[in-house]
Amino acid sequence: MSFISKQLVSWHKLHGRHQLPWQQTKNPYAIWVSEIMLQQTQVSTVIEYYKNFMQRFPDIENLASAEIDDVNEYWSGLGYYSRARNLHASARIILQKYNGIFPKKYEKILELPGIGRTTAGAICSFAYGKNYSILDGNVKRVFTRFYGIKEWPGKTKVEKELWKIADMNLPIKGIEIYNQALMDLGASLCSRGKPQCLECPLSQSCKSFLNNWTKSIPASKPKKIIPIKEGNIIIIQCDDNILFVKRNLNQIWGGLWSLPELDNHVNLNEWLLSLLDSRKYQMISSGRFCANFSHYKYLIHYQHILFKKLNVKLPENFTWINQSKIHQAGLPAPIKKLLSTL
Ligand code: ADE
Repeated sequence: MSFISKQLVSWHKLHGRHQLPWQQTKNPYAIWVSEIMLQQTQVSTVIEYYKNFMQRFPDIENLASAEIDDVNEYWSGLGYYSRARNLHASARIILQKYNGIFPKKYEKILELPGIGRTTAGAICSFAYGKNYSILDGNVKRVFTRFYGIKEWPGKTKVEKELWKIADMNLPIKGIEIYNQALMDLGASLCSRGKPQCLECPLSQSCKSFLNNWTKSIPASKPKKIIPIKEGNIIIIQCDDNILFVKRNLNQIWGGLWSLPELDNHVNLNEWLLSLLDSRKYQMISSGRFCANFSHYKYLIHYQHILFKKLNVKLPENFTWINQSKIHQAGLPAPIKKLLSTL
């Protein structure tokens, strides 16, 4: 066993996490759901979502036969909604291609939408005890610090090197504990801001600790200027109902119900006339707010308008949702927040 794996496995017995809900099972479906939720999301946020999701969709068949709107409802607020779409699509693939039985082979698992090397490695190790490595953000931090790697770990060349390091350190047995320990160390003692090196089981051989490099390793991503995109959305109210439209899959918030958005060149009155056969509305308020995404900021201008009466058949991708039901619908979190402030 390498120094890292030996130290981590014994550290985990006393200091690692043992009681997380997805650690109480070897069911690959349950572990898969947890790993998808944990991508880019903290454990403390995931726990409640995970419990609710597993109660509503306890197995692959339940998930595969659900409507995507229903799945989105249970994902609402977690963000990165393509994860929910991929989970749902994968459940249908597993049902059709593998008779509803979660595949055992790493290569087959990796083929499923939304599953990369780390997620496939986590599923294989936690569910099947197979010796596969993982390399999420926390684990990258542990390895770059330990080996004193000064370049940004997201760089392709560095990432390749880190995968080699990860494979090289795999233990001969006890992969489940080792992988969990690596994640736990990265999420606790080896944190980005305030690493607690004096308590760390790796510090005696950690290059960054010995050279006082923990502040500069891991290196930050080279800064890019974040672009601002703008959009116009319309809150159309009639009695207690708000009008929603299903977003195209190639847009942000793809597949979710959201408020109608108008391109700049579209005239509001003409658009309302063509959709609702009326333009007799009252303007209640207008304003703007900003939603932050990983690659850009989205500055949204909104207008809130009220119709007294409408009697028109809507196209299929539009629907009215009663205001009292909005909090439970699968809407993008910034849109829910905007509606709650009106
Ligand atoms: N992050 C990704 N997978 C995790 C897991 N199984 N436990 C804790 N944090 C994680």
